[in-house]
Amino acid sequence: MKGIILAGGLGTRLFPLTKITNKHLLPVYDRPMIYYPIESLVNAGIDDIMIVTGGKKSGDFLSLLGNGSDFGLKHLNYTYQEGEGGIADALGLCEHWAADDSICVILGDNLIERNIRKAVGDFREQGAGAKIMLKEVHDPQRFGVATLEGEKVKGIVEKPKEPESNLAVIGIYMYDNRVFDVIKTLEPSERGELEITDVNNWYINDDSMTFEVIDGWWTDAGTFESLHRSASLVADTGANKLD
Ligand code: DAU
Repeated sequence: MKGIILAGGLGTRLFPLTKITNKHLLPVYDRPMIYYPIESLVNAGIDDIMIVTGGKKSGDFLSLLGNGSDFGLKHLNYTYQEGEGGIADALGLCEHWAADDSICVILGDNLIERNIRKAVGDFREQGAGAKIMLKEVHDPQRFGVATLEGEKVKGIVEKPKEPESNLAVIGIYMYDNRVFDVIKTLEPSERGELEITDVNNWYINDDSMTFEVIDGWWTDAGTFESLHRSASLVADTGANKLD
């Protein structure tokens, strides 16, 4: 399985912090934000990693990360997203590189307390389809929200005004190689982006989506409030803990 970190976009919710740098290079306690998703993948045993960057300061990723030796990697791959076409648009750029492999995708602003090794192992065994991770939150309106029916995900709504559950779809997704064909069928949403929620709903309709509710804390870091919370959580308990 290959790993993909999406670190494009303009980070406008964090202006003026993101006026002169990419959001994922901002500090979260003692490390740049991008370190956390890399550690999440490496701790799950994934060492073939692509980073999708964007914006004017994308060259800084190379200066910061090089070939990934800080993470015990021999090599890192980079690609560049023009503009802000959405999460699924950024993912679509990796088609060539992913070749026939399955993939584990992490949003560059998502941090987790524990590791995802078991979920990655479960998806390897699953063999095909997709897997998402869920977490109960108090503010589901900010996220993709899943409704369950028994052991299955019935559907996901992106940022619903009146959420049917408090289960947020966190920014860690696993897909088989069909994902790149699914992305080609998507139309931009009202916010002008190709939505990862549309990709996930495709797999739900295909009856090949599984889910896990993750242990430990999870947070994004894309708003002032969540960026601040991320730093406190990391300072208090650490992130990406190995068992
Ligand atoms: O954090 C989890 C949530 O992330 C999910 O619950 C939502 O379903 C999903 O749509 C997403 O919501 P956001 O609206 O908060 O995503 P945001 O636009 O902040 O983008 C998250 C990351 O995705 C960002 O840090 C970098 C990457 N990204 C985003 C866009 C729009 C790209 O690489 N390229 C892009 O064009």
